[in-house]
Amino acid sequence: MVRHFLQLYLLIVLTLAAASWLQDWLWDTYGRQGAEAAFQDRGHAAALAVLAEHLRTVPSAQRREAVATLAERTGIDLELFEPRDIAGEETLARLGRGDPATLAGADGRLWMLRELEDDGRVLAFRYAAPDTERSAIEWLLAFLLYAAIALVIMLWLWPLTRDLRRLERATVRFGDRNWTFDADVRPGSQVYGLAQAFRRMAARIDGLIGSHKEMSHAVAHEIKTPLARMRFEIEMAQAATDRETVHAHLRNINVDIAELDGFVTAALDYAILERAEMALNVAEHDFRAILPALTESVARGAPPGLDIRCEVDPRAARVSCDAHLMEIVLRNLLYNATRYARKEIRVTFTVDGACHRLDVEDDGPGIPPADRQRVFDSFVQLGARDARKSGYGLGLAIVKRVAEWHGGDARVAESPLGGAAFTVHWPVQRPT
Ligand SMILES: Nc1ncnc2c1ncn2[C@@H]1O[C@H](COP(=O)(O)OP(=O)(O)OP(=O)(O)O)[C@@H](O)[C@H]1O
Ligand SMILES: [Mg+2]
Repeated sequence: MVRHFLQLYLLIVLTLAAASWLQDWLWDTYGRQGAEAAFQDRGHAAALAVLAEHLRTVPSAQRREAVATLAERTGIDLELFEPRDIAGEETLARLGRGDPATLAGADGRLWMLRELEDDGRVLAFRYAAPDTERSAIEWLLAFLLYAAIALVIMLWLWPLTRDLRRLERATVRFGDRNWTFDADVRPGSQVYGLAQAFRRMAARIDGLIGSHKEMSHAVAHEIKTPLARMRFEIEMAQAATDRETVHAHLRNINVDIAELDGFVTAALDYAILERAEMALNVAEHDFRAILPALTESVARGAPPGLDIRCEVDPRAARVSCDAHLMEIVLRNLLYNATRYARKEIRVTFTVDGACHRLDVEDDGPGIPPADRQRVFDSFVQLGARDARKSGYGLGLAIVKRVAEWHGGDARVAESPLGGAAFTVHWPVQRPT
């Protein structure tokens, strides 16, 4: 802080000092003061001419006395010099031509000289040079000016330095594996945008770390179980005496391999989505045709007796999104719904102002409020494993990621139908 302050302060003060020096110099040379001095000189020269004219009427011998009397009466510093008392070729030449001349005296004051035409002597008038020295009050004002500048810089720099330091501390804490970013930087701060960017980055890193943890838990669970089963089947096959039993165990091992393969494929697909290693292929699509067709195709594979309805906003003729990913979103939500609904599923798509919104509702058990955030995490499956549960708990995590890649979000609430109401929304004009 101190170093930055001094740097900035010196820079500004030196610039100001240089600028004001330059201004003074220009002022003196070309500006009003020069003009004033010239004007004053002309006044003195005119007065001197009038006096010289007056002395013409005085006899030569009495002129010195007349000048002394004049000086005494008027208080003007007047004197009569002999030409030999005047130094300087140039001055003498000027005087010889009848022009007035100025000379600087030893005491810093100035002499204005004029030759008396008829007797060769020189009439001189002494006056003070214009005062160019700075007074104490001027020095004080200059000091106050520079102090005010220091104050303004301090006021400007202090909150900036404070917020930067907070940001630095929060980043250091974050780096020390405390995966929360808690810099207290207010919206008015100059570094608020930076803090927000840090916060988003921290949240993303936190999310990735979380999903890696979940992934390792899932790997531990989903891979170890079939592996253990396979080891058991191999032991049984080794102990078997007839070919038929060996074949039966090999078939079981094959089922476990297929399960492992399914899990690894799903986990890798999700990892790609999670790390954003894919480019969105955004284009405009007519959801009035796409959504009913997709719903229809899922409905064909759904358990019989389910009433699946789809309503699309007539304004949904040009919806900008990655159609392939949105198809995955709708399919995931519908697969879940068909698994949990009792009788009814409703798909609704609305264009509301600046937002696209897809709702998938059912009349099943719904999601308890405490789990509504968590279900969107990867590898999360609610409740005990039952007949309805399959897959790896990745469907909703994918839904959420896709919504986020589109600049939107996904959430779940309770539906008027009685079950879960999943909503995916994203802005009409996707921010680039
Ligand atoms: N419509 C729903 N009604 C009630 N519970 C649901 C519904 N949809 C999802 N869930 C709960 O949320 C959990 C997570 O769902 P998700 O789609 O992420 O995973 P999954 O369906 O179990 O597996 P996957 O989708 O990977 O095949 C489910 O296991 C289920 O417990
Ligand atoms: Mg699912």
